[in-house]
Amino acid sequence: MPSQRIGMMPWFLVAGKPPLSMPLDTDSANLSPILWCVRPMLSLQSTSSDRWLAQVDAHLEEILIDHAHCEKKAAGVAMNLLFSYVDHVDLARSMTEIVTEELAHFHLVLDLLQRRGIPFRKLCPSSYGQRLHELVRKQEPERAVDRLLVAGLIEARSCERFAQLRDYVSDRELSEFYGGLFESEARHHSTYVRLAHDFAGEDAVRDRLHWLADQEAAIIARGDSLPRMHS
Ligand SMILES: [Fe+2]
Ligand SMILES: [Fe+2]
Repeated sequence: MPSQRIGMMPWFLVAGKPPLSMPLDTDSANLSPILWCVRPMLSLQSTSSDRWLAQVDAHLEEILIDHAHCEKKAAGVAMNLLFSYVDHVDLARSMTEIVTEELAHFHLVLDLLQRRGIPFRKLCPSSYGQRLHELVRKQEPERAVDRLLVAGLIEARSCERFAQLRDYVSDRELSEFYGGLFESEARHHSTYVRLAHDFAGEDAVRDRLHWLADQEAAIIARGDSLPRMHS
């Protein structure tokens, strides 16, 4: 049974401010206290279902390998944004920090795999990232807004799933591992959403984030038969 530990509240839950419109849905009553707080902070419109936790139970090693790939891809996304919008100095500095942090996470997951004797290998990705990237508009500056918000939503979903894993797995090392990564991914989400405001006004960013979060919830609800961090 999952255990609920809410004593380790990260800074953004204490100091953060919820968005003006906090989407509520029918499963809100079933959320653990920490996820009830986290989900609106992360702009997400859904919480991972038991279907994904069943994949965790059946394919934990594969999901851990996929997690390493996710950290590597997160560094790549930030590097691509740095190259595309290098004249935005705030963005360039923030992306540099995220690249560094994601590569450090990549090494942490590789170390975890090595300690457990799990060989790192290539994996086919789930359809999640591709489906989200299909939503990105083609023209600038809308393209920049969407790329940043999609990156932010992927960070948010990672964060939500890390929180789920932290509370769900009985393996103490894994639980602490995911508890330790949770805060930085939430911070990355906030950074991407903040940077989107360099390219559009507040109302436009808020409306687009809400729409993209709606699409993301639909994509994650469809799921993927491949057991992945975002399946
Ligand atoms: Fe990360
Ligand atoms: Fe991240």
